[in-house]
Amino acid sequence: MRSEALELLRCSRCRHYPLTLETRVQADQEVREGELRCANCEERFLIAGGVVEMLRAPSQQAEEELESIDKWLPLVNEVTPLNDDWLIGLPRTFHKGAETDIAVNLTHFLELVDARPGQRVLEVGAGVTWLSNLLARRGCSVVATDITRRLYVGLDSADVLMRHFGTVYDRVTADMNDVPCVDGAFDVVVANAVFHHSEDLTETFREMWRVLRPGGRMVFLEPVVGPLNLAGKRFLSRLHEDGLGDQAYPIWSYTRAARRAGFAPHSFIAPSVEHHLRHLRDDPDYLGNRTLKYRLARSVPRAFQVPVLAVLARRALYPAALYLFGLTCIFVGHRLDPWARQGRARAPAIQSAQVDR
Ligand SMILES: C[S@@+](CC[C@H](N)C(=O)[O-])C[C@H]1O[C@@H](n2cnc3c(N)ncnc32)[C@H](O)[C@@H]1O
Ligand SMILES: [Zn+2]
Repeated sequence: MRSEALELLRCSRCRHYPLTLETRVQADQEVREGELRCANCEERFLIAGGVVEMLRAPSQQAEEELESIDKWLPLVNEVTPLNDDWLIGLPRTFHKGAETDIAVNLTHFLELVDARPGQRVLEVGAGVTWLSNLLARRGCSVVATDITRRLYVGLDSADVLMRHFGTVYDRVTADMNDVPCVDGAFDVVVANAVFHHSEDLTETFREMWRVLRPGGRMVFLEPVVGPLNLAGKRFLSRLHEDGLGDQAYPIWSYTRAARRAGFAPHSFIAPSVEHHLRHLRDDPDYLGNRTLKYRLARSVPRAFQVPVLAVLARRALYPAALYLFGLTCIFVGHRLDPWARQGRARAPAIQSAQVDR
C-alpha cells in the first residue's frame, strides 16, 4: 500500500479511524512490509509484499471460495497456462468464448467508468487486478480488494503488473460486504463478474453505497441468468456446489437490490452478446445446431439488414431475451442521497441495448 492510503482505511474489527502505520520496508513507492494498528481495539493488520491483510473473519461464502481454489486452479492451468505473460496480456489472454468476454466489452465498460486522472476508484473482487492496473495506467488512484492474495488468482499478481507497467495501486484483502474503508472514500466502484458471488446483493450494494461519495457511481459487469436459462442455472449451481459461490441472478435481482441500497440503476446489454451471436457462424455446427441461440444467430444478422427489424430486435428481442434467459450486462448505479431520493424520478431499469458494431 502507499502511505496515502492510510486516509482511506479503517479498522475491519471495530471500524475505528484512523489507523496507525508502522513501515518496516518501503520500496517502489509502496510500504512493502509493515503493520497497521488500531488504537481503539488494538487489532493489528499485517502488510506483507505490499498487500494489507484486513480480511479478519471471512464469511462462509468467502471461506468456501478460498478453499475451492486448490481444486480449480490446476484445471484452469491445463486450459490456460497461468504465468507472467498471461497476466501482462490480460484481458486479451482470457480464454475466448465466454459470454463475459471482457476484452470485447472493455471499450464500453471503460466509457461508462469514465476514468479520469486523480479519480479515486475501488475495485472489489479484483482478482489478479488487471482492471485496477488499467485504471491506474489512466491516472486513477486505485484500491484493489479481493478475498485472496494468491499469485495468478489474487492480489499478489499485481507485483508482476506494477513492475511491467510502472504503475502503483493499493491492495487490501477484504470482503465485498465489509470493505475496510471510510464512508464516501471513492468516486467510482468497479467490479467485473464479482457480484454474482454475493449471497445478498442488497447488503453488498449498501456497502458500495457507503464507500462511494455522494454522486459517485458503481459500474459492474455480470452474467445475468434468467428463469428460462436452465443450462446456465445448472452450470452455475454446479460451480456453487463446488464452493465457487456463483449464483444465478436474473436482471431484476440486480436492479431491485441496487434501488433498495439507494442507487439509480441502469443496465446495458454487453457488446459481447451480439459479438458472440455473430461469431457463432465460425462454429462447424453453425448450420445444423437447432438450439435457440443458434437459430437466433442465423436469423438475427439477416434481420439487422432491414432497418425496421434492426430497431425492433434491439428494442424488443434483446430485452425479452435478457429477462427470460439472461444476457451479460454492464450495470451503472448512481448513488442517490436521501434528500435527492424523496423527489426523484425513477431511472429506467433497462436501457436499450448498446451494441458495438
Ligand atoms: C470471476 S472472478 C473475477 C475476478 C476479476 N474481477 C477479474 O475480472 O478477473 C470473481 C472474484 O471475486 C472474488 N470474490 C469472491 N467472493 C468475494 C467476496 N465475498 N468479497 C470479495 N471478493 C470476492 C474472487 O476471489 C474472485 O477474484
Ligand atoms: Zn479496531
